[in-house]
Amino acid sequence: MTETLPPKTPQPDPAPEGEASILSVTHHGMGRTEDGTLVPRVLPGEVVTLSKDGPKIVTPSPERVAPPCRHFKACGGCAMQHASDGFVEGWKAEIVGTALRAQGLEGEIARVLTSPADSRRRARLAGRRTKKGALVGFHARASDTVIEVPGCRLLLPELTALIPALERIAMLAASRKGEAGLTVTDSEAGPDLHIDTDKPLTEELRLSLPEIAREAGLARLVWAEEIVAELEPPVQRMGRARVVPPPGAFLQATAHGEAALLDCVTGAVAGAERIVDLFAGCGTFSLPLAERAEIHAVEGEAAMLAALDRGWRGAPGLKRITTEPRDLFRRPLLPDELARFDAAVIDPPRAGAQAQVAALAASHIPVIAMVSCSPASFARDAKALVEKGFEMGPVTVVDQFRWSPHVELATRFTRG
Ligand SMILES: C[S@@+](CC[C@H](N)C(=O)[O-])C[C@H]1O[C@@H](n2cnc3c(N)ncnc32)[C@H](O)[C@@H]1O
Repeated sequence: MTETLPPKTPQPDPAPEGEASILSVTHHGMGRTEDGTLVPRVLPGEVVTLSKDGPKIVTPSPERVAPPCRHFKACGGCAMQHASDGFVEGWKAEIVGTALRAQGLEGEIARVLTSPADSRRRARLAGRRTKKGALVGFHARASDTVIEVPGCRLLLPELTALIPALERIAMLAASRKGEAGLTVTDSEAGPDLHIDTDKPLTEELRLSLPEIAREAGLARLVWAEEIVAELEPPVQRMGRARVVPPPGAFLQATAHGEAALLDCVTGAVAGAERIVDLFAGCGTFSLPLAERAEIHAVEGEAAMLAALDRGWRGAPGLKRITTEPRDLFRRPLLPDELARFDAAVIDPPRAGAQAQVAALAASHIPVIAMVSCSPASFARDAKALVEKGFEMGPVTVVDQFRWSPHVELATRFTRG
């Protein structure tokens, strides 16, 4: 008697030793193999060989592209330059979708708006002294090593052009052991430089730094917390107002990203006449919104609100803006304080705004425009609103940190 065997399903050849297939990419931008090994700079569906020199691609993904920047392999500033724009968009949208589903929410991701290359107007570079001179650049991935990035494809060209001057400054601000943080922000009057250093500001430095600032075309130079040179006020335009942020103040990372977020926020609170702007910063949303509505801007940093207020006073024709310095984690605006507003804008830091969102949920406010830089804390806060009867609108993902794992987003909540 012959035994009938079930037809054999064709099986792929077993992977040769050292070869692995990439199943997915984590929200940190690392490829994950079947056994959980994390591999940088790979894509789902790729077959790679792993060695101590990094992954070698055996079968590339159709989404693989040539990295636009020559420093990509060494520099830790970007994680996803090997992926097509379409892949990165889908991946970022999925990070938001996954965070929402983890809270039991189904959200519609309406669109992903990605800032162009060469458009970051603000970045923190690292400066280090070497035997021969100084190094300025980004850290290598998961490392203290500083990688020089001339021609970097993230930053505005005005900022990359500043690197030789930053090297000069790193000679003064950094040591062989301790590095200096160099935060550069583009402004209407030229770059605004904030140096984060432990080195004391000596009399000699007080004399030499203004000259270096002038030669480099800086608008302002801040050493630790002290303004050492202000050749021109480093003005940022916010709607019709011109604002001079205090040293180290928060600012959206690209003009494109800021416009995209503002567009979402403006659409969400259209028609409102009295708006509370929570975590208002220097007025990114308050000042443009004051063209149509009265605004109460609340923020933890009094210096940022003072800058907002000066900007408002210098821009005739805007509706009234009042400001209130307040720690919104410890002392959120309570439902009775929220009663006089017909819309809220909320743009908290990474941790989200658990306490303030609980108060919004318990209030009668009908509309909330929420902006977030953390899908996880956003999803947690969104759930608290949805549980109290709010409906979440479509989510816009704004990718102003292109090629990185950061995700920003905006959406609107209305009472159902
Ligand atoms: C993501 S930024 C947004 C700022 C502003 N909406 C913008 O777009 O420029 C978050 C802001 O929250 C402020 N902040 C952080 N912790 C806070 C707290 N506990 N209470 C109030 N404000 C806080 C920061 O100073 C920062 O300005």
